[in-house]
Amino acid sequence: MRELFDTKTDTNEVKRQLSFIEEGRRIVSELADQAGRKLTACVVTFGCQMNARDSEKLSGILEHMGYVLTDNEEADFVIYNTCTVRDNANQKVYGKLGTLNAYKKHNKLMKIALCGCMTQEEVVIDKIQKSYPFVDLVFGTHNLYAFPELFVQMMQRDLMIVDVWESTTKIVEDLPIVRKYPFKSGVNIMFGCDKFCTYCIVPYVRGRERSREPEEIVCEIEKLVADGVKEVMLLGQNVNSYGKNLPSKTTFPELLRMIEKIEGLERIRFMTPYPSDFGDDMIECMRNSKKICKHIHLPLQSGSSRILKRMNRRYTKEEFLELALKLRKELPDVALTTDIIVGFPGETYEDIKETLDVIEKVQFDNAFTFIYSKRTGTPAASMPDQVAEADIKVWFDEVLSLVQECAKKRTALLKDQIADVLVEGINDHDASLVTGRMSNNTLVHFPADASMIGQIVKVKLETCKGFYYLGNLVNG
Ligand code: 5AD
Ligand code: SF4
Repeated sequence: MRELFDTKTDTNEVKRQLSFIEEGRRIVSELADQAGRKLTACVVTFGCQMNARDSEKLSGILEHMGYVLTDNEEADFVIYNTCTVRDNANQKVYGKLGTLNAYKKHNKLMKIALCGCMTQEEVVIDKIQKSYPFVDLVFGTHNLYAFPELFVQMMQRDLMIVDVWESTTKIVEDLPIVRKYPFKSGVNIMFGCDKFCTYCIVPYVRGRERSREPEEIVCEIEKLVADGVKEVMLLGQNVNSYGKNLPSKTTFPELLRMIEKIEGLERIRFMTPYPSDFGDDMIECMRNSKKICKHIHLPLQSGSSRILKRMNRRYTKEEFLELALKLRKELPDVALTTDIIVGFPGETYEDIKETLDVIEKVQFDNAFTFIYSKRTGTPAASMPDQVAEADIKVWFDEVLSLVQECAKKRTALLKDQIADVLVEGINDHDASLVTGRMSNNTLVHFPADASMIGQIVKVKLETCKGFYYLGNLVNG
């Protein structure tokens, strides 16, 4: 059978784009000479870990072209890497674009680009063209790798360039990258989603599911480890569907075992598994692993079988509970977190009670609770019985408070334990403390200095502060 998608990096495309980076470098250097200063670029990320990883790719390319990266949006090049999973993310981008326009009026060199999931929607493109003509470049999720080429075109023309593809068969992964953290990194193992949950826009904006070859993933992680990375987060919308389009049909647990063997790598995380695809082979794999972190993010979405069916989730309340309780029993020290949507069309308080019941029974270690957001083009958007905002608000608060109560209880259970903690940085509020992450994803703050950043150290969990701990280093 012919493969519909490439599973390996297209090395010719990589070479092409590298040559555009060189071209971009010449253009940026000329402009910098004229301006008598270095040019700055700011990449702003909205949304999920996939976008964060894509932003690292954009930053890498911009840095290679000679820009100095900054967090300040008053830069010479600003790119918004957008998210469209919920409408509030879109609204935020439109609001911020207005501010960028004001900056642009004072800086002739300034260029503005938009990319990411939002730009995959036709309505968005129309709106940008009509109401935000000062945007210089718009591209999508499928041609992110062609950014160097589009950048050069943008610099040579005065008109807005819009280049958004409906899909791609290509994987182009070896372009320069600037990692936000030297010690941890996301790694794309697959792209797209085939599940078509009726509320979700991801399958429309990220395209069909396609996996990368395991050897290429292992090779990428080996290089990251050689460069100082201790923890990787394997990224995919549906990681336990990994490998279905590969000639070798490598499964996700098989991939995990290959990655486990990489010397020097200390921690493996993954995001996100789909409940009904989480089989016993995964449980076995996690039980036998020394490196897979003790955290599973398992999106519930709703505890009502009736709503789950309307959401096109492929499990019932009972099946989810059976899996979650099995995970609790077989992997007792693994934290279970989830996503919950409140206010899906047709939902009633009876359905919310079912959701509350699942939260109560599973005692999630944490949960992201979202108000349903109507996404144009998804089946749920045209369902007749959209729920009144006032009801949603009350239900949301009830779900959130139970979630928080459970999270606090679960966190409190860890008191006085000694945990391995990867130190991620200086504490945001108190410079005498550092902040680190336990294997189960709980944050711990403790006295230490910047020299510890990137190390895995033992910390005694002394004071539980609700969702996080204050602790102290354990010597020896
Ligand atoms: N409205 C609200 N939440 C949504 N999510 C996805 N689509 C929507 C939507 N239309 C949530 C789901 C998913 C998480 C990433 O975002 O809970 O797991
Ligand atoms: Fe969206 Fe469902 Fe795919 Fe997750 S599994 S990305 S919620 S369609």
